[in-house]
Amino acid sequence: MTRIVYLNGDWLAEGEAKVSIFDRGYLFADAIYEVTAVLDGKLLDYAGHAARLKRSLGEIGISSPLSDDDMLAVHREIVERNGLREGLIYLQLSRGVADRDFVFEEDMQPTLSLFTQAKSVIDNPKAKTGISVVTLEDQRWKRCDIKTVQLLYPSLAKMEAKRRGADDAWLVADGLVTEASSATAHIVTRDGRLVTRPLGREILPGITRSSVIDLAREAGMPVEERAFTPDEAKSAGEAFITSATNFVLPVVEIDGVPIGTGKPGQAAANLRNLYIESRRRGAI
Ligand code: PDD
Repeated sequence: MTRIVYLNGDWLAEGEAKVSIFDRGYLFADAIYEVTAVLDGKLLDYAGHAARLKRSLGEIGISSPLSDDDMLAVHREIVERNGLREGLIYLQLSRGVADRDFVFEEDMQPTLSLFTQAKSVIDNPKAKTGISVVTLEDQRWKRCDIKTVQLLYPSLAKMEAKRRGADDAWLVADGLVTEASSATAHIVTRDGRLVTRPLGREILPGITRSSVIDLAREAGMPVEERAFTPDEAKSAGEAFITSATNFVLPVVEIDGVPIGTGKPGQAAANLRNLYIESRRRGAI
């Protein structure tokens, strides 16, 4: 099926949407992106994604060409036009088009594009089996809190994990886990406390992370926002990742070491259910 995509105010068949080779997103990775999950044809945790988009844009000085209301309307329209029930919306906003120069004009016309991907996010077989990860050195830049499209290292890290027979990589800086290649990393101690790295420039402020922390606290689960080592993770009761389209996904093996029983744990399963139920109810 040919998707209908959005480009700078136009709705186009996916093959018709063209961006200039001089776009700064293409030349300098000078662009911000967001990924929002769609369930039952509705947007999950949209307010969080919209707020983070604004923050990321503000951090690198790009202004959004759309008002908040129009941004939401475009998200809804792309779901509608593609008859999307379950999957995701990818949004990218680059600084715009100019001849190649490290220095840019402050008032460029940004390039805004959105497309959808249909995907089964609820019935993810990995939610039942869990995933394996390997730890790799975090070689990303020092502003991982901004959701830029500079994803070469996360992509190479995921490929390295794949070559080693694992599903994903957990990145490590200064002996501490930062996050997964494209998700937040969490552990559950053997006495049932959720441990997750505090926000800072080393990690993306995950929208799912923030929702899951709230849900854990509401369910009476103690939450510790502190960094942890790969060794602590390997001897934890459970480990899991969170992201917009994975929700909560158990990690059952780190560097070949089974976590807990080596099977998906109860805490991750509970948090996954709580997340899906509550966000489904609150979807817009
Ligand atoms: N990735 N950390 C990194 C480095 C990420 O790329 C992501 C999301 C997250 C989780 O954030 P959230 O819960 O807001 O999705 C954490 C998206 C999904 C991606 O790149 O496809």
